[in-house]
Amino acid sequence: MTLFKNQLTIRNMVTNLLEGKKGIIFGALNDKSIAWHVAEKAHAQGARLVLTNAPVAVRMGTIGELADKTGSIVITADATSMKDLEELFAKSLEHFQGKIDFVLHSIGMSPNVRKGIPYAETNYENMLKTLDISALSFHRILQTAYKLDAITEWGSVVALTYVAAQRTLAGYNDMGDAKALLESIARSFGYIYGKEKHVRVNTVSQSPTATTAGSGIAGFDSLVDFSDRMSPLGNADAADCADVCITLFSDLTKKITMQNIFNDGGFSSMGMSQRAIEQYRKSFEECPDK
Ligand code: NAI
Repeated sequence: MTLFKNQLTIRNMVTNLLEGKKGIIFGALNDKSIAWHVAEKAHAQGARLVLTNAPVAVRMGTIGELADKTGSIVITADATSMKDLEELFAKSLEHFQGKIDFVLHSIGMSPNVRKGIPYAETNYENMLKTLDISALSFHRILQTAYKLDAITEWGSVVALTYVAAQRTLAGYNDMGDAKALLESIARSFGYIYGKEKHVRVNTVSQSPTATTAGSGIAGFDSLVDFSDRMSPLGNADAADCADVCITLFSDLTKKITMQNIFNDGGFSSMGMSQRAIEQYRKSFEECPDK
């Protein structure tokens, strides 16, 4: 309890980290979305925002509420359309009357996951859509910003990812491939953008989090429970993820680029916990060899 109180005090003490900064936030569908939490925190830290999502998500979700709360405007854009992205950046530059300081890519969707098609029986049209929406969209966003020279020097671009890029987690399906590509794009574009414009490009690898996209993964509840028990610090929630994004958008992390930062309570470095060893032993007592 004391630790919790101290954490709250520290969080409240940090103010105006993004004072005067302007950002574009992709992917706030509803108040469970990680992007929603990032937008709220960025606003609280003094940033001005443009919120964006695909047309269907703007119609079906509650992004308007977030715009009201944060004094932002909403510009609709399908992140797989270069035309939409060009318009989004051009309108944002006009709205802000200047360049953009940070961008959040918080976009993911797999038709194979949605339709319950197993990885070994993948539908390749679906898989191409997964890669286009969840990974190539990051390249498209970076390329659009780069061509328009839309991001300020020492600006920061962050995309959200998952440890399934490095390790196989049953049920994550072709999203694991999409996340591996996403993280690679962060490194490849991060090199070019860093060298030429001093723009940082990073990914944050987040614990499983109960959101619309997350809950679509087969066996998601077990995944959440397993990684929570396996992580020494427990799972990171959406608010924790937002804190890391704010730090990466701020001037406190100017020399961090081309990195994948694990915000997962230590899960990605774990093999087996003491508790899991004990549980594993017990399972043999309950189910002895025949
Ligand atoms: P969410 O469902 O709230 O957000 C996903 C967003 O992607 C939605 O707002 C959706 O409208 C948007 N999107 C889909 N297709 C699009 C398109 N063509 N153009 C523009 N936007 C499009 O779910 P969540 O969990 O907040 O997801 C955000 C990011 O975090 C995703 O990249 C996800 O893979 C990642 N992530 C999520 C984890 C989780 O367990 N929820 C764990 C690790 C990473």
